[in-house]
Amino acid sequence: MTNPAPQTCDVLIIGAGGAGLRAAIAVAEANPDLSIGLISKVYPMRSHTVSAEGGAAAVIKENDSLDHHAYDTISGGDWMCDQDAVELFVQEAPQEMIRMEHWGCPWSREENGKVAVRPFGGMKNKRTWFAADKTGFHMLHTLFQTSLKHDKVLRFDEWFATSLLVDDGRCVGTVAIEMATGKIQAVIAKAVIICTGGAGRVFPFTTNANIKTGDGMALAYRAGVPLKDMEFVQYHPTGLPFTGILITEATRAEGGYLLNKDGYRYLQDYDLGKPEPKPVLRSMELGPRDRLSQAFIKEQEKGRTLQGPYGHYVHLDIRHLGEKIINTKLPFVRELCLKYENLDPIKEMIPVRPVVHYMMGGIHTDIHGATPLKGLYAAGECACVSVNGANRLGSNSLTELLVFGARAGKAAATFAASQNGGFQNGGFQGSAGNTIKALYADEVRRLEQQFLKKEGGTEKIATIRKEMHNAMEGGAGIYRTEDSLLQSQKEIQALKERFTRVQISDHSSTFNTELIAALELSCLLDVAEAVIQAALHRKESRGSHQRTDFPKRDDENYLVHSLAYRKDNDFPEIQYQPVTITRWAPGERVYGR
Ligand code: FUM
Repeated sequence: MTNPAPQTCDVLIIGAGGAGLRAAIAVAEANPDLSIGLISKVYPMRSHTVSAEGGAAAVIKENDSLDHHAYDTISGGDWMCDQDAVELFVQEAPQEMIRMEHWGCPWSREENGKVAVRPFGGMKNKRTWFAADKTGFHMLHTLFQTSLKHDKVLRFDEWFATSLLVDDGRCVGTVAIEMATGKIQAVIAKAVIICTGGAGRVFPFTTNANIKTGDGMALAYRAGVPLKDMEFVQYHPTGLPFTGILITEATRAEGGYLLNKDGYRYLQDYDLGKPEPKPVLRSMELGPRDRLSQAFIKEQEKGRTLQGPYGHYVHLDIRHLGEKIINTKLPFVRELCLKYENLDPIKEMIPVRPVVHYMMGGIHTDIHGATPLKGLYAAGECACVSVNGANRLGSNSLTELLVFGARAGKAAATFAASQNGGFQNGGFQGSAGNTIKALYADEVRRLEQQFLKKEGGTEKIATIRKEMHNAMEGGAGIYRTEDSLLQSQKEIQALKERFTRVQISDHSSTFNTELIAALELSCLLDVAEAVIQAALHRKESRGSHQRTDFPKRDDENYLVHSLAYRKDNDFPEIQYQPVTITRWAPGERVYGR
């Protein structure tokens, strides 16, 4: 094998969705001398940020305050958020949103020309900025076009990172496959930022695109970085039953109702307030996502949901909003319903069910996006700072990727500028260079032995993926118990073992999507084991983590973040670290009153 010369850059960003692009711009602005590599397994405008619909939260109106935003976020997160991180998040959020405006983001407007905001679940005030119901598309476009202005950003589109290069306790790059040619390359950098998004594809029903396979989480986890708070998996209450496609919370912000099979607004039975003609903040359909998804399951247990070919569902009714509102504020919802359900929400109710939407957990970072591994940073959904705690509030994540993408970019730029030794003439010299060459050669060997040149494997990717989905939905879904989690754990461990015998039949070099699917599945299995182990160890119920065998929140023992460390041939080890409380002592989560 001839080794292609390594690619080099000062700061390497893996993942070119919202967080990755924001980080790239921040590096370029912080230090124009630095070269920036931007690896993405898809063309950047195909990143999952593009599908975000409802909006991005930041205080802008006079009747609102940073403290309100902080409190809503912290109480919504069931007091698992680090409050120092939340405080700076809410402070920096408005500046980031205005910066987006200056870069060209077409925020929807009020009649008087001011930025419009809509209410979102669990929030005391209207503070969700939006661009109709295609907010992610417009934000991603804005970030992408802004990144194009920076000549120092060198893109590696359709490259798949397979492992991090770690030398002497420091992250110095990645090995990646250039998908168009199949070439396996080292990309060496002084600092690396992972921005690869979440891992909703661990579960069968999800709003997440096929690309959200936890790749960056697995890269960091395999390099010894812990995954934090992985037990907290968010179900969005309104996904389409078969495809899992998101029907945005904005439908409920505009006044949509959730109805059971009897046409009854069932949320009034779940301590979420009483029905009012107009939407009431923090009440009923504008309650937080964890409570709404849990209410669905209770409703199902009472036999009051409907049943279709893809399981139980309820109805989302927006007919009373009328054609004008639907066409102007929710045009994408209408388009999705027409295309994927063959129904017109102006005239018909929309079938919906809770679907996995977001991982509150992720790569353990501090407020600068730094991980415990020197030179490695993370931002966006793949990271856990943590501002989302045990349950993220809708519309905080688009803002989070701006605030913490920018912070990680600045911190990585400072770190990279301070690292001179050994990084010259297009690569590492001397002993560092030899180590990297050896690490690179090891990774090439692994990819060949496990996938590319392997013969005689007996397992199929699709079968293992399906069984993983069943194991996760069966035992680690909205409600969990020790028994259900132990069962899932057993199944996932068995699947990991079977994965060693996976066979790919495509050995070609050009766009070998079967190879990529196998690599993605191996990442998903790593994420799955971390979710289960953290959920098994957390013997309480908090936010999205509901243990029916431990139904109460237990602040005395569990006001702590879980940290899952990978172990070879064993279950991950779980350690804990305290949650940072600054000004808001843990209290009861009260909605609808
Ligand atoms: O419902 C939504 O539009 C989702 C928004 C979010 O997850 O932040």
